[in-house]
Amino acid sequence: MGIEASNRLKLSSGSDYEDEKNFFKNVLEIAKELCTLKLNPGDIAVDCTMGNGNDTSFLCSLVGEKGKIYAFDIQEEAVIATRKKLQKLNLLERAELILDGHQNIDKYFIGNVRLVIFNLGYLPRGNHEITTKKETTLQAVQKCLDLLEPNGIILLVIYPGHENGKLEKEALESFTSKLNQKVYNAANICFTNQINHPPELICIEKVCPK
Ligand SMILES: C[S@@+](CC[C@H](N)C(=O)[O-])C[C@H]1O[C@@H](n2cnc3c(N)ncnc32)[C@H](O)[C@@H]1O
Repeated sequence: MGIEASNRLKLSSGSDYEDEKNFFKNVLEIAKELCTLKLNPGDIAVDCTMGNGNDTSFLCSLVGEKGKIYAFDIQEEAVIATRKKLQKLNLLERAELILDGHQNIDKYFIGNVRLVIFNLGYLPRGNHEITTKKETTLQAVQKCLDLLEPNGIILLVIYPGHENGKLEKEALESFTSKLNQKVYNAANICFTNQINHPPELICIEKVCPK
């Protein structure tokens, strides 16, 4: 369990709940909680969609000085924005920023990855034409499965409210439903009472061999 998570457990074990927040506000928050639970200092993790660097910087803060975050994006402006953000936060040394598609991830690693996150779609204030696509997303996820260490996890935040996101959701659900349950735990978290196709979270955890 990560340091932040154990601190929070200590906090919530007291009689005072004023620091407590809603765990199920949205899937991005749930994804962040899972990152906090999974990552420990010294771990290697990957942000497959760097964007403006919000997730990359969060992951960098969780793995500490000895950890490493590899982040991918196909847009140079994403790499520039993320580098700037990490420099400001004094976290740049913990990151490797890669201008390449996540479908090429196997060019950069051979394994030992603890966590991979995909925040799919397009940059909210960027070019909406430049978006993740189901074919390359699937290729990347397949490759990430091989790179994960036992107990490692892949988190995919999907936006089914736009056409590409809907296609990615269908493709990923079909793919994960066929994964061998002896090797992977696969789950989909979706809010059933929110309007307008809210984002969903697919999680794939590699089962630890006995
Ligand atoms: C929703 S944004 C990511 C937001 C980001 N995680 C953040 O914290 O700001 C999606 C990003 O995926 C990138 N992207 C699209 N196709 C990609 C691919 N094949 N490989 C890597 N990144 C890709 C886009 O350029 C865009 O920056």
